[in-house]
Amino acid sequence: MIQFSLLLGLLGLLPSCWSASVPDSPLLLSPSCNDSRVLSMAGLALQGINADRKEGYQFNLNRVADVREHHQTGASSMYYLTLDVLETDCHVLSKKRWKDCAPRSLHKTVYGQCKAIFYTNLPKRILYLPTYNCTVRPVSRRKIVRMCPDCPSPSHIDGSDPWVSQAVSESLQKINKEAAVGKRFHLFQVTQAYSQWVFGPSYFVEYLVTEAPCTKSLPGSEKCLQPPADPKPVGICRGSLSKINQIKYVSGTCEFFESQTTSAPGIQSPEHQVPQQLAVPSTAAPLEEGPKGSVQFLPDLVDENDEVNQEKEPFVGFPVHIDLTTEPLGEVLHLPSRFMLEKEEMPIVLPFPERSRSNECPGPAENSNPLVLPP
Ligand SMILES: *[C@@H]1O[C@H](CO)[C@@H](O)[C@H](O)[C@H]1NC(C)=O
Ligand SMILES: *[C@@H]1O[C@H](CO)[C@@H](O)[C@H](O)[C@H]1NC(C)=O
Repeated sequence: MIQFSLLLGLLGLLPSCWSASVPDSPLLLSPSCNDSRVLSMAGLALQGINADRKEGYQFNLNRVADVREHHQTGASSMYYLTLDVLETDCHVLSKKRWKDCAPRSLHKTVYGQCKAIFYTNLPKRILYLPTYNCTVRPVSRRKIVRMCPDCPSPSHIDGSDPWVSQAVSESLQKINKEAAVGKRFHLFQVTQAYSQWVFGPSYFVEYLVTEAPCTKSLPGSEKCLQPPADPKPVGICRGSLSKINQIKYVSGTCEFFESQTTSAPGIQSPEHQVPQQLAVPSTAAPLEEGPKGSVQFLPDLVDENDEVNQEKEPFVGFPVHIDLTTEPLGEVLHLPSRFMLEKEEMPIVLPFPERSRSNECPGPAENSNPLVLPP
């Protein structure tokens, strides 16, 4: 700590003329992106990101693109992580662990980059994700069509495609008829839609559903309530609708979420993948903490030529910005009181640093197909 304050003091003496392009703090280390500790921090940070999100599908870690580490007092560290991620088939509301969620097949891939700041204090058993931001895009449609012209292609999920709406309503009808007992499911939100020509048009949809109870009034007739004004999704359903030789085929199945009674935002007790001493304090996070970041969905990168056209400003395919501070020497980050840190133990957060010069970054990718790696 003495060294640290001394260094801060020395930095304070430097002329402030470097505000235009602030060099990274010399306190920042550049560990390897393949370091086992870095990988485990990256996995936990991603778990925190998935747990914080309310919409979309969980991300899984494709590779650590970059990492900087800032040692703090008391064997704790602040990590500045840049993670290349892939969307999985698990909805964030399913609360599954991303390691249990398979990445999508190539033609359905959504990929991108997250930046996250992650604080770890092992002696105090703290793992804390102060903030994150991500940008994702679907894989380039042109390139997929070139490789696999018959693969399913995405359809609009904003209600503008009547086939998608029909696939949703017919599969939901089938589910309500065959699987719903004492209740009825209602559409909450369409989350995914693909179409494909297989001897005829086929539509594949995924959607969140809410439920409302039904009561048997007369024999053979049911009276169902309308869903409440502020309904909560209870599960995700997958449906399909195909027409082959004038015959219609409809299918539908649902997966229901575990009831989310006291699931606190932040990291859910990750005991199966984290050494015991890393276990997160089980006290629920105060609700007023709110979301820690956001995910930006951009359209697919249409063509390499587009990048050349934008010569004036260097083209950034996956713009992700996070800043908790713009103060070059950083600021004290006040952790929520549940972590019970003394004032002088509170960590310092710096502006999100530039790329490290470590040649051990990016780390090895789970899926190294250039189509799914942010440039
Ligand atoms: C995350 O991105 C959003 C939108 O680009 C931005 O408004 C927000 O300030 C960013 N968060 C942080 C912590 O910088
Ligand atoms: C990453 O680390 C693993 C295990 O330590 C090692 O087997 C692998 O060769 C490393 N990969 C790279 C690209 O350095």
